[in-house]
Amino acid sequence: MLPSNRNRQQPRAGRSWSFSEMDFSDPKRKPRFLSKLVMLAFLTAMCILMLTHPQYHSSCPSVFAVREPGVTHVLVTGGAGYIGSHAALRLLTDSYRVTIVDNLSRGNIGAIKVLQKLFPQPGRLQFIYADLGDAKSVNRIFSENAFDAVMHFAAVAYVGESTLEPLRYYHNITANTLVVLEAMAAHGVKTLIYSSTCATYGEPEKMPITEETPQVPINPYGKAKKMAEEIILDFSKSADLAVMILRYFNVIGSDPEGRLGEAPRPELREHGRISGACFDAALGIIPGLKVKGTDYETPDGTCIRDYIDVTDLVDAHVKALDKAQRGKVGIYNVGTGKGRSVKEFVDACKKATGADIKIDYFPRRPGDYAEVYSDPTKINRDLNWTAQRTDLLESLRVAWRWQKLHRSGYGAPLAATI
Ligand SMILES: NC(=O)c1ccc[n+]([C@@H]2O[C@H](COP(=O)([O-])OP(=O)(O)OC[C@H]3O[C@@H](n4cnc5c(N)ncnc54)[C@H](O)[C@@H]3O)[C@@H](O)[C@H]2O)c1
Repeated sequence: MLPSNRNRQQPRAGRSWSFSEMDFSDPKRKPRFLSKLVMLAFLTAMCILMLTHPQYHSSCPSVFAVREPGVTHVLVTGGAGYIGSHAALRLLTDSYRVTIVDNLSRGNIGAIKVLQKLFPQPGRLQFIYADLGDAKSVNRIFSENAFDAVMHFAAVAYVGESTLEPLRYYHNITANTLVVLEAMAAHGVKTLIYSSTCATYGEPEKMPITEETPQVPINPYGKAKKMAEEIILDFSKSADLAVMILRYFNVIGSDPEGRLGEAPRPELREHGRISGACFDAALGIIPGLKVKGTDYETPDGTCIRDYIDVTDLVDAHVKALDKAQRGKVGIYNVGTGKGRSVKEFVDACKKATGADIKIDYFPRRPGDYAEVYSDPTKINRDLNWTAQRTDLLESLRVAWRWQKLHRSGYGAPLAATI
């Protein structure tokens, strides 16, 4: 039964209605309270639906549909992920307008929330929940927004997983890049910064790796990225695009101000990267670190890799965006040019975390190569970019500060709760 008008509390003029003003002990109010609760739940569900499904957005044109002079509006695919979120933060800090498209399959809505809190002003940042494999959605996103450039980070990105699920990798990396390119072509977006990887080189005989080193990838991840690069190169010949392909080496670190970090899904731990494993071991989530191979022809017998700090990496993206020119393709290695052994890494990790991490040594893992490091001469020369954060210990200290404060990452991802 509804309470009588006499019993109903009305908000007084100039005052907003709040739950604290309700008398929860009055049994006559219970049905009304319940109906309010149902309505609240319904509205919350609608809000989540509208926020996460672009097809439910209202049809009024947004500020993101307005083209401004120059390159101001960047589409960041995969912006809820580790590198994409750091790139979005840097772009926003540099006054770009940013649209993030992500399906949250691997990224974190928590990272988006951090960015939204930092840049709440209308027209600065929008998040669109969408899958790049859905060409219809992607096309609609391009038709409803005026992008000046695309930074295409979105991808599944684990070498080991790619050997187990190759089709997923070709689909997610190669086919989805095609979808993005088709949408760019259809909507006249002319600038692309593409996330590629040193995995496209495979096992080169000669170190350091230059951009001229033959690309002979040895796993589906590297092959899918190389195929995507080839599609981009072919398309750019006839489409008057400004393209920058950046081949990253091993990315580590996190935002020095502690706003963002690396938070891969727990189920991906087994495929994970060395820094994640190091922090998990320090937090006691895994029993220790497994070092595979101690008899390589390197000074201490362990593998050597080139670790690039994510802050330097996103700086390379901004410089690439700035220098991208129509009708030209730039291909660049993004690394420090300096190799560090796994043993060096583990020692730095122990120091950074202060944890006495247990290390177990195993025989070599098949397919691992002894040494991989970049020659960054070309990017130094053309983009005036040099890695600044080359102190491994400092990069790990910064990342550890975030990890310690975010033991369970950014919290439950939205995709899992709806
Ligand atoms: N992390 C590294 O060491 C490294 C090294 C070389 C290259 N890369 C490349 O950098 C890019 C970013 O890597 P990361 O380490 O930030 O990975 P990440 O998993 O943290 O981020 C990838 C993001 O892409 C999103 N995504 C994946 N598939 C999608 C789809 N179909 N539609 C929409 N969104 C999708 C995920 O939800 C996630 O947010 C990738 O292209 C990767 O191949 C990374």
